[in-house]
Amino acid sequence: MSLVANPGRSRVPGVIQEGEQMSTSHSIPERPRLTVIGTGYLGATHAVAMASLGYEVLGLDVDQTKIDRLTAGTVPFFEPGLPELLAEVLASGRLKFTTSFDEAAAFGDVHFICVGTPQAHGSHAANLTYVESAFTELASRITKPALLVGKSTVPVGTAARLTEIVNAAATKPGLIELAWNPEFLREGYAVQDTLHPDRLVFGVNSAWSEKMLRAAFAPILEAGTPVVIADLPTSELVKVAANSFLATKISYINAMAEVCEATGADVNVLASALAYDNRIGGRFLKPGLGFGGGCLPKDIRAFAHRAEELGVGQAVAFLHEVDEINNRRRKRTVDLVRELAGGELKGVRVAALGAAFKPNSDDIRDAPALDVADMLRAEGADVIVYDPEAMDNARRVYPQLTYAPTFAECVKGAEVVVLLTEWQKFREADPEMMGVLVARRAMVDGRHALDADAYRAAGWEYRALGRPAQPRTVQLLEDEKDQVMVPAV
Ligand code: UGA
Repeated sequence: MSLVANPGRSRVPGVIQEGEQMSTSHSIPERPRLTVIGTGYLGATHAVAMASLGYEVLGLDVDQTKIDRLTAGTVPFFEPGLPELLAEVLASGRLKFTTSFDEAAAFGDVHFICVGTPQAHGSHAANLTYVESAFTELASRITKPALLVGKSTVPVGTAARLTEIVNAAATKPGLIELAWNPEFLREGYAVQDTLHPDRLVFGVNSAWSEKMLRAAFAPILEAGTPVVIADLPTSELVKVAANSFLATKISYINAMAEVCEATGADVNVLASALAYDNRIGGRFLKPGLGFGGGCLPKDIRAFAHRAEELGVGQAVAFLHEVDEINNRRRKRTVDLVRELAGGELKGVRVAALGAAFKPNSDDIRDAPALDVADMLRAEGADVIVYDPEAMDNARRVYPQLTYAPTFAECVKGAEVVVLLTEWQKFREADPEMMGVLVARRAMVDGRHALDADAYRAAGWEYRALGRPAQPRTVQLLEDEKDQVMVPAV
């Protein structure tokens, strides 16, 4: 690996060298015109961020309602900083939206495909219908040189198959190339992660594709962001490998929490001691209720499924255990609430704080919080849920649960309070004031986010997974990149 002074101009040696495999002599526009196909979480953020960097961007979605809302300046999900930036780029005229593939094909030099790859029904595999359709719709309409860039998370080998699909659908030969550019943004930090990524990964088949991507990301590269040039399968793998690693790290510390529970040791003290070792690091080493969301759970399952198809299932068999450890945390949280309730949940009033899969998000996909709330309800507890942002989504998907209009209403009369999503509002709550509202001062801190000493001083029985019955406050190291609530843009 070559080390150079300006990493922004660097390329990690990959398969393509300047001039080699130059498949076309098409010119490279200084500022390529960009389209973003699919305006969900990833696509909407990417479109807005790229327009904010000065590019002309056209966002496409097949959902007319979504397009109408974005055109009117409304972000259809909760993401700090994004509504403000959308307003700015709409006013600049650099970002427009459409539902027409004809318009997108005529407009773009570089097309970013950002459609979803959800878990297929009845299987752990990824559903690639939307990706295939987006590539085909574009390829069949393109009449000028264009780069089709996949950003969606896909099983390794998809780009190779899409290349064949695109070649078959293309009206004229030699105009289209395909590249992969995995995205690593986190919900809640989406704008910051898009504009200031840790790295860019360009999966390319030719020097022309690499140059087009460099032109499409010029301001980010000029800021010194490292870029890794890879072949297509490696670039597809980077994404699932990264998410699998993160999921494994979380389940690792939660597995240690299980061992702590059997020994009286304290997982928070353990985690903070491990975090001081730079080789381990404290990020994604936060014990608690575990991971959820639209990415980590489905990605580890799809990866394991794909590895089995490829005959290397054993290599990632540990991901099944990662998934199992994660699911056990949810059941164990229910156990703790039951313990605090005196061994029986029937008729016990439980305040469930949080519904979103993590704070700063209204996303409830595979949300541990709602899973736990529903398990408590199934055992006969009188559960009332409150979340600052995810109530509408939660109500739609979990209509069987009861919801409180405010934080105070939620905890009023509760016999056990369980913290399931660590919103700042919950972290900052005064245990004394909350204590006045509840029927009994009993707290299960499912996210290890509360000040144990302060709760115990205010007379609360405080319990957290993997911690002794009388735990002290232990500050877990927090990285500044995880602290930013509203991204600076
Ligand atoms: C994740 C990855 O972090 C992103 O890099 C990736 O781009 C994204 O998936 C994706 O594939 O699109 P995200 O799903 O937004 O991002 O959420 P994370 O911040 O990774 O959190 C995932 C879950 O892990 C949350 O439920 C969170 O509460 C939990 N978590 C996280 C822990 O339980 N402990 C930790 O230490 C960290």
